[in-house]
Formats: sequence, C-alpha cells, structure tokens
Amino acid sequence: MGEPQSSHESVLLSEVLDALAPLEGARIVDGTFGAGGYSRALAERGARVLAIDRDPTVIAFAERLTTDFPDNFTFVAGPFSELDSLAGDEHVDGVVLDIGVSSMQLDQAERGFSFMRSGPLDMRMSREGESAADLVNSLAEADLANLIFAFGEERASRRIAKAIVAARTIDPIGDTLVLARIIEKAIGRKPGAPHPATRTFQALRIAVNGEFDELVAALFAAERLLPAGGRLAVVTFHSLEDRIVKRFFDQTKTAAPQSRHLPQSAPVEMRWSPVRKAVKAGVGELDRNPRARSATLRSAIRTTAMARPIETAGLGVPGFRRGVA
Ligand SMILES: C[S@@+](CC[C@H](N)C(=O)[O-])C[C@H]1O[C@@H](n2cnc3c(N)ncnc32)[C@H](O)[C@@H]1O
Repeated sequence: MGEPQSSHESVLLSEVLDALAPLEGARIVDGTFGAGGYSRALAERGARVLAIDRDPTVIAFAERLTTDFPDNFTFVAGPFSELDSLAGDEHVDGVVLDIGVSSMQLDQAERGFSFMRSGPLDMRMSREGESAADLVNSLAEADLANLIFAFGEERASRRIAKAIVAARTIDPIGDTLVLARIIEKAIGRKPGAPHPATRTFQALRIAVNGEFDELVAALFAAERLLPAGGRLAVVTFHSLEDRIVKRFFDQTKTAAPQSRHLPQSAPVEMRWSPVRKAVKAGVGELDRNPRARSATLRSAIRTTAMARPIETAGLGVPGFRRGVA
C-alpha cells in the first residue's frame, strides 16, 4: 500500500503556531487532526500532541505521524466536544481547533460534501447518524426553509425548500448534483456570484454534523481542561462560527446587562485574555491557497478564573428546532 495522499493544505499554520507558542515538551490537543498538518508542525517543534478527529478516514494520516513521531504523537478517534475527557488526566498546555471540512472530504465525491461533483448526498463526517439525504427527504417544508435560513443565512430559503419538496414528491433526492440543480433552477445563477447551492450545502452540513453544538461544547471543554496560562487557538471559516468564538472569549459580550435599579455588581471575571486580535491569511497564503480566504484565527490565554458551566445565551448560536417556526 502506498503513502496516503493529502490534498489538504493547512490554513494559517504559522499564525496558529505563534498563537500556541508551544515550548519543548508542551502537551497540545489538536481537536481537528484532518491530514495532520498542524499536528506534524507541532510535533516537529517538540510538542507532545494528542490528535482527535471524528472522521475514520484520517486514520491513514495518523498512522504516518505515529511512525514519524512514536514518542510524541497519539491519535484518538472521536468528537472534539469530548476533548477534555479524551485528553485524560495529564496536564494540557494548549488546544487547537481548525473547524470545518478538509479538502479530502470536499474532494471525495462519495462523501457528498461538494455541489460540484456527483455523489451520494451524505455529508456525515463520522459516517454515522442521519445523512443530508435523510434531512432533505424527510423534513417538513417549513423546517427545511428554517434550517437553510438559520444555518446557511440563505435569504431564498423558502423558495429552495418549496422546490426541494416538489422535486422529492416525484423522486427522493439522493445525489449532490441533483440537489444543486434543483436549487439553481429555483433561485437562478448570477454570473460571478458564488454557486446558488453554496449556502444550502453549508446549512445541511452544519445540521448533519451538529457543528454549532460541537463547537460550543468544545470551547467550554477547553475552558475546563486548560490551566491558567494554557492557550486556545480556533480557526473558523464563516461568520456564524466566528461570532460564537469571539463572544465566548470576550465575556463582556455575553454577560447579562445590569439593571440600573440594582446595586452595582462585581465586574465580570474574565476566563480568557486575548493573545492578539482576529488574524486573517496574508496575501502570500491567499495566492497559494484560496480556501484560506474565509479563515479567521482567534486565540486566547486561560486566566485563573474558574471554568463556567456550559451556557449558550449571548453566544449568538443560530437556532433551529424541527417543528418550531
Ligand atoms: C479543516 S480540517 C483540519 C485540517 C488540519 N488542521 C490540517 O492541518 O491538516 C477539519 C477536520 O476536523 C474534523 N472535524 C470536524 N468537526 C469535528 C468534530 N466535531 N470532532 C472531531 N473532528 C471534527 C474533520 O473531520 C476534518 O478532518
């Protein structure tokens, strides 16, 4: 068997390394292993890396790193929402999350993430649970429209949901290109604009993989796991996720407003102190890797304040519940 081939180029790699600033022997959790670009760079700098990914197909890349770094690399399959329990009792100095799909996932038509290639309408990173086809063929029209609006910020969500329901009554929708064409027919295609299916595919992917719940759980897990001085770096690829990370780090954005009729309460105890402001890819990286265009890195250092219980209020997590208008 040959070496596993990776089509994935790590995004904001040197900026992530700067944000984590790992010392020799530091223990870092890479919650989104993918093709292992971050993990390899961290291991090369002498960090001890625990890598996590819920996609079973990354195992071949993980095996290569285990061979190259037998003393300072370990892989565990699982969701990053459980990163604190997966990390065990040993001290952790840093956590990194590079949220979203990898190029391998996008490029493999049979995974069903891409509206550019014909494949089964799947989109399950872990290959378990409900697929995108299950959602598209079973949700009520109003639920479909709400999902596409909430998770894809698609203003034409109602027209798209109507077209999907009309199409599936003739034939269940099971192919990515078939769905892309239904959407294109429903809302048209403007020259120079992103493909009309972009937002709907994003919404379905987020729903299938429970991406917002995973992100929120992982942020609070990192808060529990990291001691004072520990670092958390998060790379996101769209504004809905970036807003959650931004508000999570800055508690002045999530604290309940104080009533002017009540006595002044104590100032908010900050759990995180920013490493630096949000970072975007530079021109050199954008030339090499257009996927980096939408990436934003936020990073912060854990303070001595006690970890909070999970609380989504104020984080701006988009809501979608079946049967709720
Ligand atoms: C953008 S890629 C990471 C690329 C990696 N940083 C690199 O340099 O190769 C994101 C990876 O995170 C994984 N992933 C996404 N959500 C996850 C979750 N909730 N739990 C565990 N892994 C997840 C995906 O399966 C994918 O392999």
